[in-house]
Amino acid sequence: MKKIWITGGAGFIGSNLVMQLQEEYPLADLTVMDDLRSGSFLNLEGFRGDFVAADLSRLDWEGQFKGERPEAMFHLGSITDTTLQDQKIQTHDNVESFRRLLEYLRPEKTPVVYASSAATYGIRAGVNRVGDPLAPANAYAFSKVQLENLAKKMQGEEPSWKIAGLRYFNVYGPREGHKGVPASMAWHLAGQMLMGKRPRVFTAGEQKRDFVYVKDIVAFTLAAMKAGKSGVWNAGSGQPRSFNEMVEGLNGVLGTKLQPEYFECPYPFYQPHTEADMSATERDLKIKPKFSLEQGLADYEKSGWLTRGRVSVKPTK
Ligand SMILES: NC(=O)c1ccc[n+]([C@@H]2O[C@H](COP(=O)([O-])OP(=O)(O)OC[C@H]3O[C@@H](n4cnc5c(N)ncnc54)[C@H](O)[C@@H]3O)[C@@H](O)[C@H]2O)c1
Repeated sequence: MKKIWITGGAGFIGSNLVMQLQEEYPLADLTVMDDLRSGSFLNLEGFRGDFVAADLSRLDWEGQFKGERPEAMFHLGSITDTTLQDQKIQTHDNVESFRRLLEYLRPEKTPVVYASSAATYGIRAGVNRVGDPLAPANAYAFSKVQLENLAKKMQGEEPSWKIAGLRYFNVYGPREGHKGVPASMAWHLAGQMLMGKRPRVFTAGEQKRDFVYVKDIVAFTLAAMKAGKSGVWNAGSGQPRSFNEMVEGLNGVLGTKLQPEYFECPYPFYQPHTEADMSATERDLKIKPKFSLEQGLADYEKSGWLTRGRVSVKPTK
């Protein structure tokens, strides 16, 4: 890959992908497109490529790029605050960004890997398999279903075009702090624990999530491009872990012994369990998750990003 474009490259997962691409393809010409609405330039320290600060849902692609096209397109740019209730903004910005991008790439059928989400499955508990009925419970999830529908429509019109979607599960890791409230549970609980406070989780901490480390997500995303296939795949750890286990894991890496402080969940229905069925991903993309929760948290801590920019007190032993 000599010319690679990445949307959302100033964001959490996008910037990890960009830095990995820069390492794997040092001679490649990389262009990041991001309007920085939720990302940060601070995530791109050391980036040597080009940066286009533009809202992709309104960008005139032909005017901007004048017929130039990449060899590979990674599309991660998206509104990522799932609590943003404005249905029109969520749907317009997320879907139109993808529509414009696909229309621009159509003449050369540039291979595309795009970020979908486990949120497309809705709030039903249990193992999530590609092929299960989708039940988006918020406008964000609805917009991701629309991305998948659009990709399918384009593939129907251009059967040789490779467009791969990945349903990312609960991702955590370096370069997520800029997200604020939508950052991962690992990030938020670590912040409380670094202040010497007991980590606050819903009673009784036995809810489970498919927490997946960002290095695995980057590896899945690259594998989807290299596989040269069309479709949708899960991208998780395949190992649901409880909130209590997350606290235990953080105590392990931060050197603390803080017990959870439980409080009642305010939501009438709260999803008790998410779990990615990874069998199709392993079979088709030839890749498996490498990081357990404990290994991911240890790597996160070692990177320095778990504690970077935090107000902290000496952890309570
Ligand atoms: N983090 C997770 O756990 C998770 C889970 C499921 C899916 N995803 C998906 O992965 C992708 C990356 O998410 P993230 O966690 O890195 O979030 P993020 O908010 O850090 O990154 C998203 C980036 O997209 C940019 N962006 C948003 N709308 C844009 C637009 N219209 N034009 C240009 N840039 C725009 C933002 O500025 C930001 O830098 C997203 O598509 C998200 O929906 C993430």
